[in-house]
Amino acid sequence: MSTSTATPEVKSSGLEGMTAGKTTIASVLQDKLIYRGYTIEDMAANATFEEVSHVLLVGHKPNATELAAFEDELKAERELPELVIETLKKIAKLPNTVPMDTLRTAVSILGHLDPQCQDNSPEANLAKAKRLLAKIPTVIGHMQNVIDGKDIVAPHKTLSHAANLLYMMTGEEPSAEYARVMDISLILYAEHDFNASTFTSRVISATLSDMHGAVTGAIAALKGPLHGGANEAAMDMVKAVGTIENVGPYMQKAFDNKDKIMGFGHRVYKVGDHRAPILHAEGRKIADSLGGEALRWFEVGEAMQALMFEKKNIHPNVDFPCGLTYFVMGIPVPQYTPIFVASRITGWAAHIMEQHANNRLIRPVAEYVGEGIRPW
Ligand code: COA
Repeated sequence: MSTSTATPEVKSSGLEGMTAGKTTIASVLQDKLIYRGYTIEDMAANATFEEVSHVLLVGHKPNATELAAFEDELKAERELPELVIETLKKIAKLPNTVPMDTLRTAVSILGHLDPQCQDNSPEANLAKAKRLLAKIPTVIGHMQNVIDGKDIVAPHKTLSHAANLLYMMTGEEPSAEYARVMDISLILYAEHDFNASTFTSRVISATLSDMHGAVTGAIAALKGPLHGGANEAAMDMVKAVGTIENVGPYMQKAFDNKDKIMGFGHRVYKVGDHRAPILHAEGRKIADSLGGEALRWFEVGEAMQALMFEKKNIHPNVDFPCGLTYFVMGIPVPQYTPIFVASRITGWAAHIMEQHANNRLIRPVAEYVGEGIRPW
């Protein structure tokens, strides 16, 4: 215990390297990322986001009948209650509001309206998870329609989760190529063990609070630029760099100021994020086919990656190619992190269910480094 009157500087470990619990859902290792035993490379090449969602939420790879039923359930749950639509219209364009705030509020209201909100049974939790999975893209689509000053685009009745998400934002059906690239990005974003937002959701659910509350908290955690918000921050930074000629001066200034380069580095991965090259290759294919400006943005991004590796030996994380890829696909930058939510809801919900199924309150202790005992 300190007896000094000066405020001590406490260097936080950020719980780095600490094992905070067990999970059967995912494993984040230097040499691989797996969801329930399937590698991320295998799923990105061979699965759909709906199949991966089934693996995460239900616990196993679906057969054809199970998959069709799961997809039908999601499609049937896409529409939003009127109260959520009316609220989106009122809040999506408030001056101090960004889409992650709007999405957080919408999910919270969905809790008010969910008939099973207070029921933490496995059956109710799974039903609520599916409803949230189905409805979050609709929240994103509708709020973008409001931001654009356009009529609300009703959810599509047959398109996939990824294609419907793109469709609702613009009212135009995406090409098969764009839909598949979005699908792959959702697979890559779906789950990542005890990252900050998932850990938040587990801490909340470990008090036996409900799924909507835990997801609302997780959205708040994901928003920050050191976590999910990095995909938006990364693209904002690439735009600020602007040209290949400016990569060197811009980054040198950032290094001199000890500023973080967004979309680079990772708490766990020290030799690269497995997801980044997969998404980079997909985005690069789109940029190659578009040419012009789109290709130029990728070239600026690639020059930043090369310099970051040369000077700092730091690799891009998935948010860097995500920013570039969504940008060349024409998706508004402030929706990148909400789209992350449209995927990560599966991982969060799987963890909330796992926590509820084998619960103990999460309550660590702090080392006190404050004042010694003194008279009032
Ligand atoms: N840009 C510049 N330097 C970086 C960096 C980045 N993106 N990421 C890490 N570093 C450097 C730090 O400056 C530090 O250097 P130092 O030891 O000389 O001070 C060292 O690498 C360790 O960084 P630290 O911030 O302690 O690592 P962490 O494990 O706490 O941070 C992140 C992990 C993800 C928060 C961090 O890499 C970061 O802020 N990245 C940018 C935001 C981002 O992309 N987040 C999404 C993560 S998926």
